Amino acid sequence: MTVHVPVMRDILVDALRLQAGEVVVDCTLGRGGHTKSMLDSADVKVIGIDRDPTAINLTTNKLSAYGDRFVPVRAQFSQIQKILREMGDKSVDVIIADIGVSSPQIDDGSRGFSFQQDGPIDMRMDPDAPLSALEIVNTWSSDELIRILKEYGEERRPGRVARVIVEGRPWSTTLPLAAAVSDVLGRGKSKIHPATRTFQALRIAVNDELKELTTLLESSVELLSDGGRLAIISFHSLEDRIVKQFFAKESGKNAAKDVFGHPIIAPRLKLQGKLLRPEKELEANPRARSARLRIARRLSWNN
Ligand SMILES: C[S@@+](CC[C@H](N)C(=O)[O-])C[C@H]1O[C@@H](n2cnc3c(N)ncnc32)[C@H](O)[C@@H]1O
Repeated sequence: MTVHVPVMRDILVDALRLQAGEVVVDCTLGRGGHTKSMLDSADVKVIGIDRDPTAINLTTNKLSAYGDRFVPVRAQFSQIQKILREMGDKSVDVIIADIGVSSPQIDDGSRGFSFQQDGPIDMRMDPDAPLSALEIVNTWSSDELIRILKEYGEERRPGRVARVIVEGRPWSTTLPLAAAVSDVLGRGKSKIHPATRTFQALRIAVNDELKELTTLLESSVELLSDGGRLAIISFHSLEDRIVKQFFAKESGKNAAKDVFGHPIIAPRLKLQGKLLRPEKELEANPRARSARLRIARRLSWNN
């Protein structure tokens, strides 16, 4: 069984400085590693969101000892405003997200995320979601494939990959797709598998990951109490760019100023320190290598 080692757990929990009575939303519950550490660090309540029913079921069992201090919710995190409204929570003190797929999702070949184990080309974090990667590779036009390969995979030769996908239809499992992409791009000198970018593009498209993140950020600023903390761990430059630009905009960086030098639109966030990166955990958890943690605080609503 794959164990998900929570990325930057100690750094995150130290930086949050949780206080008794605070309400936290963990938008990416997964196997509950971050949630458990937060529950152990102070007498807080954690609402744990995940769109994957397996993650919700396993983690609900694992954290049952925390009683009503832990509230699991199966949903997309872009729905955070609706979820909190329905729970009667008007504002929360901390919102965290550890973006992307989990190790158990990648390592379970039957979920179709992996180019190392054969399985149906699926990649849905929520197996009930309408769009799977199979539909994309078997039905989307070459132009649509090129767009996602460029935008979501940052693939340098999207045309070649799109052609091999269209010409190789119908596809059903991951290994033949990975092999075809690898053949057309060649192994080169890079250590990363040639199909990495293609699989990343498909995964992001299937789960609409960048839009989910953008909506979460916009909603979170509305939901945080005065001094509330927003902490996002991202794993690749596409996600980190969105977080960095959002934090810069909301903290008033580059904002238009009035004649007195005050920003015309009042900043809503204050950055807490610099970008944080994993330190000692790399040996134990090589997947943490590209992780980046950014934290910001909600400025007073009366500002
Ligand atoms: C990297 S894992 C989080 C691991 C977790 N921090 C832990 O310690 O176990 C990301 C999790 O977030 C979930 N997820 C990703 N995007 C989501 C979204 N938009 N809405 C809800 N859940 C999402 C995935 O299903 C996955 O279980």
